[in-house]
Amino acid sequence: MSTIFPKWTNGLPTMLAGGAVTTLATVVGGVWYFATPKFWEVGYMPEQPGGGFNHQLHVGKLGMDCKYCHTYVEVSPEANIPHVSICYGCHSENKLQKYVDSPAHREKTEFVRTAYKTDMPIEWKRVHKLPDYVRNFPHHAHVNAGVSCISCHGNIGRQPVVWQHESLSMSWCLDCHRNPEPTLVAKDQVTRLFEVEQQMADPAAMKVAGKKYYEERQIAAPENCGACHY
Ligand code: HEC
Ligand code: HEC
Ligand code: HEC
Ligand code: HEC
Ligand code: HEC
Repeated sequence: MSTIFPKWTNGLPTMLAGGAVTTLATVVGGVWYFATPKFWEVGYMPEQPGGGFNHQLHVGKLGMDCKYCHTYVEVSPEANIPHVSICYGCHSENKLQKYVDSPAHREKTEFVRTAYKTDMPIEWKRVHKLPDYVRNFPHHAHVNAGVSCISCHGNIGRQPVVWQHESLSMSWCLDCHRNPEPTLVAKDQVTRLFEVEQQMADPAAMKVAGKKYYEERQIAAPENCGACHY
């Protein structure tokens, strides 16, 4: 069952043999820091550059699709954070200023143009993060099975600043893996969170539709340790 232990424990015997007490203290301190609930709890909302990327505005009001920015979410385990050039497509001097030209807006979006011109990435802080001893979380597998982003991130289209909506604990993963049916939606609705939100108001109907999708798509969500741990 060695696979279930956090990777860092592999290094422990070596460190102890070497008598590297300070190293051990640092490791334990680090693990303790990351293991404190604050970093991993529901509601975690770190301070972000420019006050945070506003999904409520871009998704909720302007109706942008997740895949415009999180381009690889259907084809890769990682949901990528967009490069500033995607933002610049709308927030360049001449483009957006044409449509929303107010000093307040100019000021709020200046950090985008600065980042683009100086070729420096915007230092967004990671919000959702699984511990290292959990395998790379496969976004594409979930999205292609018809699990909407809303099931795991809440309705991002209502969040002016992104915060962690679910515990991301092991029992949370397993609760869904044991009974994924009610969470499955039409594939073209996976990123249309406001439509899914409306459907969720009628759990009985979702369950019926979900059962159909479950059979059609031959869904098999793993419960064996090796699927999620090294
Ligand atoms: C115009 C670009 C854009 C669009 C469209 C967009 N996002 Fe984002 N998203 C970002 C940026 C930039 C960040 C990083 C900043 C942050 O975390 O606040 C981000 C962060 C996130 C995060 C948190 C990442 C983390 O650090 O854990 C989630 C979850 C997310 N987006 C989901 C969505 C979903 C779901 C949609 C569609 C409903 C969507 N996004 C649409 C640009 C976008
Ligand atoms: C498709 C065009 C488009 C893209 C791409 C886009 N934005 Fe915007 N953004 C807008 C528009 C339009 C507004 C103004 C909306 C309004 O005020 O109603 C806006 C507003 C903003 C604001 C001001 C928010 C506020 O509270 O008033 C910031 C900051 C911002 N965007 C950052 C970004 C970043 C960072 C990215 C890239 C991750 C990005 N935008 C990508 C169109 C876009
Ligand atoms: C089944 C649950 C689930 C679904 C569905 C899901 N996510 Fe995630 N998402 C997660 C988890 C868990 C993480 C943290 C992964 C990690 O730490 O490896 C995450 C992380 C992210 C990140 C941060 C990536 C980074 O590199 O900073 C973004 C962005 C994101 N998700 C966007 C989306 C979008 C967009 C969708 C829908 C198209 C979506 N997610 C659907 C569970 C989910
Ligand atoms: C809301 C439901 C839901 C949640 C929450 C969820 N999953 Fe899943 N997961 C699924 C479904 C459905 C599948 C099956 C996909 C298929 O059959 O194609 C799946 C499949 C997987 C797979 C197998 C992918 C493959 O290539 O076959 C892994 C690994 C996985 N999930 C990890 C996780 C982890 C880790 C978490 C928690 C952080 C998690 N899941 C949370 C619904 C969920
Ligand atoms: C669907 C994915 C998934 C499966 C299957 C899974 N785990 Fe986990 N496990 C996780 C995630 C995610 C965490 C991290 C939880 C957190 O951060 O709170 C975790 C954490 C753990 C931990 C750390 C302690 C704890 O409870 O937080 C242990 C030990 C563990 N898992 C053992 C197992 C064993 C043994 C099995 C097989 C019976 C298993 N896991 C199956 C996703 C999974």
